[in-house]
Amino acid sequence: MKTSFLLLALGLVPAAFAQDPAKQDPNKPAPAKIDGTARSIALPTMTHDLPDGPGHDVYLANCVSCHTSRYVSNQPRFPRKTWEAEVTKMVKGYGAPISDEDQKKIVDYLVAIRGVPDAPAVPPAK
Ligand code: HEC
Repeated sequence: MKTSFLLLALGLVPAAFAQDPAKQDPNKPAPAKIDGTARSIALPTMTHDLPDGPGHDVYLANCVSCHTSRYVSNQPRFPRKTWEAEVTKMVKGYGAPISDEDQKKIVDYLVAIRGVPDAPAVPPAK
């Protein structure tokens, strides 16, 4: 008799703690209410808009799978050599699978939209 009373009392102690809201962990999220309604969240819309022009389609097909176009639009204007190195870096450094032919089209496009004239040739020594 005494033993069963003790077991009953021990069983009630945790139950009493669990039901007292003041003793619940405030950091624990409330259990989700299952009410049969669908939930939704609005994700931000990313646009990949850079100016249109020859090669824009090739650029879009190859250059926005890992990051947005902001990586390009945030750069200053670069000479062709720098854009070439940039595209090569994406391919060799980060593994972008872009054919040589498409890389050339992309460089032409990048130079057209964010290029600067190539640096003037160094004048020949006298
Ligand atoms: C396989 C994934 C991948 C693809 C595809 C890719 N990039 Fe990147 N790109 C990266 C990573 C990774 C970085 C570096 C991110 C960082 O440092 O925060 C980066 C950075 C950049 C930067 C910022 C400058 C720099 O060198 O870090 C530019 C500009 C850029 N990419 C242009 C391009 C262009 C143009 C293309 C298409 C030819 C392209 N990316 C395709 C992965 C990729």
